[in-house]
Amino acid sequence: MKAAFIEQTGAPDVIQYGDLSDPTPGASEVLVKVGAVAVNPIDTYLRAGIVAMPFEFPYIIGSDVAGTVEAVGSNVTRFQPGDRVWGSNQGFFGRPGTFAEYAAIDEQWLYPTPDEQCDEQAAAGALTGITAHLGLFLHAGLREGEIVFVNGGTGGVGSAVVQFAKAAGARVIATVGSDEKRKLCETLGADLVLDYHSSTLDDEIRAFAESNGGLDIWWETQREPSFDRTVGLMKKRGRIVLMAGRDARPAFPVGPFYVNELRLVGFAMFNASPDEQSECADEMNHWAASGQWKPLIGEALPLADAAKAHQLQEANTLQKQGSLTGKIVLKP
Ligand SMILES: NC(=O)c1ccc[n+]([C@@H]2O[C@H](COP(=O)([O-])OP(=O)(O)OC[C@H]3O[C@@H](n4cnc5c(N)ncnc54)[C@H](OP(=O)(O)O)[C@@H]3O)[C@@H](O)[C@H]2O)c1
Repeated sequence: MKAAFIEQTGAPDVIQYGDLSDPTPGASEVLVKVGAVAVNPIDTYLRAGIVAMPFEFPYIIGSDVAGTVEAVGSNVTRFQPGDRVWGSNQGFFGRPGTFAEYAAIDEQWLYPTPDEQCDEQAAAGALTGITAHLGLFLHAGLREGEIVFVNGGTGGVGSAVVQFAKAAGARVIATVGSDEKRKLCETLGADLVLDYHSSTLDDEIRAFAESNGGLDIWWETQREPSFDRTVGLMKKRGRIVLMAGRDARPAFPVGPFYVNELRLVGFAMFNASPDEQSECADEMNHWAASGQWKPLIGEALPLADAAKAHQLQEANTLQKQGSLTGKIVLKP
């Protein structure tokens, strides 16, 4: 089969596109004929060797996938050939990735694809959607009527946080970097969309949340959080969600943090158990069917362009180029 893989870690050009043997599904695995895959920032960290996880070379890159079941192992109970499926969490902890024509995936990491989603959409929303769901509900305990602030409301994770918070009955403030993204963020349902370049940004957040006593949840997508700023905008017993910035070591305002009984929750989606991720997937599928979950696609490429896709992802996540609106999806 054709696959995008690496033989060593390094810059995007270490990604090769070529022939590898077809995988054979184990007893609990499903052989998926891949319809679409999507790029996540963590794919680029693994490829670069910035985040160390065990893997064998040649290592097939990629975490997200959507496609059609081709065959199932003898112990598989939930799927049969012909079913449409999506999943994430591949390429981690020694598991091979998804950027290939076929992937053998344990059934515990796969979910049925709703009729309302094509493979590109299901792949685009996989890791980002599970991340948003875990953070909002398992970690931050979002309740109906609360105010959620999302820093980066049209990014991969941020656009899912906006949509899920609205689906759960929250009021949402989100930031964007351009007018074009403001319009998009409004269509996702955000109640107030602000430009993160604005010099009056915090005053505008404060004014919106004033009657509530401040923000209930601050979702930080940026790798350099400023706690001095964030803590001052929070409501008593509010929750600050952190999920990016491994090397960040910001100052921390201890006094106002504990006096206001705030909570700081950090998490990485790949630590969530299969059952926890599956609960997220069930609700995401429900929201996809009801039209409340529409993953954003910014760029569609052939799988042969995997190296180009990694360059584009890095230019946006690391160099903050702002040229991407939605996920990069690739098709074998
Ligand atoms: N812990 C986990 O489980 C987990 C899971 C997924 C991702 N992550 C991490 O989360 C981060 C975001 O991932 P992603 O896939 O959502 O990335 P992404 O799609 O590249 O989104 C980046 C977002 O940052 C926004 N942004 C850029 N400059 C900003 C600024 N100065 N102030 C506020 N927002 C700004 C962008 O807005 P514009 O486009 O409007 O400029 C965009 O919305 C990455 O570091 C990734 O590694 C962690």
